[in-house]
Amino acid sequence: MEPVPPPKTYRVKSFGCQMNVYDGERMAELLSAQGINPAPEGENADLVVLNTCHIRERAAEKVYSDIGRIVKDWGRDDGSSPLIAVAGCVAQAEGEEIMTRAPAVRMVVGPQAYHRLPGMIAEAVAGKRAVDTDMPAQTKFDALPARRKVGPTAFLTVQEGCDKFCTYCVVPYTRGAEISRPYADLVAEARRLVDAGALEITLLGQNVNAWSGEDARGRAVGLDGLIRELAEIPGLARIRYTTSHPNDMTEGLIAAHAEVEKLMPFLHLPVQAGSDRVLKAMNRSHTRDSYLRILERVRAIRPDIALSGDFIVGFPGETEEEFAETLSLIDAVGYAQCFSFKYSPRPGTPAAAMDGQVPPQVMDERLQRLQAALQRSSLAFNQTSVGRTCQVLIERKGRLPGQWLGKSPWLQSVHFEGEVAIGDLVTVELLEAGPNSLHARLLHAAHA
Ligand code: SAH
Ligand code: SF4
Ligand code: F3S
Repeated sequence: MEPVPPPKTYRVKSFGCQMNVYDGERMAELLSAQGINPAPEGENADLVVLNTCHIRERAAEKVYSDIGRIVKDWGRDDGSSPLIAVAGCVAQAEGEEIMTRAPAVRMVVGPQAYHRLPGMIAEAVAGKRAVDTDMPAQTKFDALPARRKVGPTAFLTVQEGCDKFCTYCVVPYTRGAEISRPYADLVAEARRLVDAGALEITLLGQNVNAWSGEDARGRAVGLDGLIRELAEIPGLARIRYTTSHPNDMTEGLIAAHAEVEKLMPFLHLPVQAGSDRVLKAMNRSHTRDSYLRILERVRAIRPDIALSGDFIVGFPGETEEEFAETLSLIDAVGYAQCFSFKYSPRPGTPAAAMDGQVPPQVMDERLQRLQAALQRSSLAFNQTSVGRTCQVLIERKGRLPGQWLGKSPWLQSVHFEGEVAIGDLVTVELLEAGPNSLHARLLHAAHA
């Protein structure tokens, strides 16, 4: 390809899960540290990083349409297109294939290799195309610059990768084997996030509750030990974690929900389906019953906990009766909020080759019924909050003038009016509930 001038501005677009959002932020910081600046809103950038997701077919296909649009709309005066880098899970899964399918792409970099972007940019500027989907032993975390400025809520990746191999899922292939970042590094990064302005930290991992490490005294600790240590950081008001796997839900972590005040009463614990036969075919290694028993234990010690989950409809072979078991599970749990998806066959996963692929119309119809049940469940949960007084951490302005939007301890979106600012932790009374948000009245605007 023809050499181009070194990029002066960049834009990182992240898709997919919160870990990708975290990676996107880290890439942005890395590029800024190289003297490349974020492109102003509405202006074209010299370097575009598409930080992609491979979890479902639609997410993966989006990359190619995005590349096409960038090339078409973002052409520069000299006729050249911006430097395009494809990062994230599509990069990992498809590697060289992206280069063939999208000739405009100069760099393909996997989620464990993006700390090497600066070197790749130098090559791309010289006219070369580079693919790096290594999973190097020196992790990206050691090679990335420290974080400087963050909003009131920040993500902190503590664990990456997955060894669970659910039969439908690409994550073990795109993110690699489970690794836990060292305790001391995480405590240090959390302190820096708080110094940079974070009041709430969400600990992230594909299986965050599988995190394990050694504390300062060399004792083996699980995620609950890390949470207890982070709770000691002055100025940090709230701790959350996501996503958990039912099999790694330890007694210690459950107990932390009763004992650690800064740990918010919210648990995202995906179940995927309500039928034991389907769960087994998914290789989930928990049953409907073992899952429900975990939730019972959590509720016993933290009765107000907001529960959340992920669901897949139309897994190969799912019958109408089996789907009905998913609906009855939803009724049994009473979720606060959930994500739900149509099964999407992913190349190379065992489920993609299974018999009994469910026709699209059947999946559509099941998804509709599932989402209706989830909406009812969320509304019912939010209605039980009406009349409560709670703290809300303000994240942004609302749609209406004078309106603000923040999150309750139960991760509900709460809007209200008042003389406040982003990053304030205020006390409100919850007045009215919808399925997706609550309206509140400001009681006092005390700062954190
Ligand atoms: N590690 C987490 C989440 C991984 S991906 C967990 O185990 O729960 C997020 C969600 O995407 C999954 O929980 C699942 O509901 C959904 N998902 C993953 N692969 C999928 C596929 N092939 N088709 C449809 N949904 C899928
Ligand atoms: Fe995917 Fe299952 Fe691992 Fe979650 S636990 S990332 S769904 S393989
Ligand atoms: Fe998507 Fe990769 Fe996350 S496939 S959901 S971006 S781990």
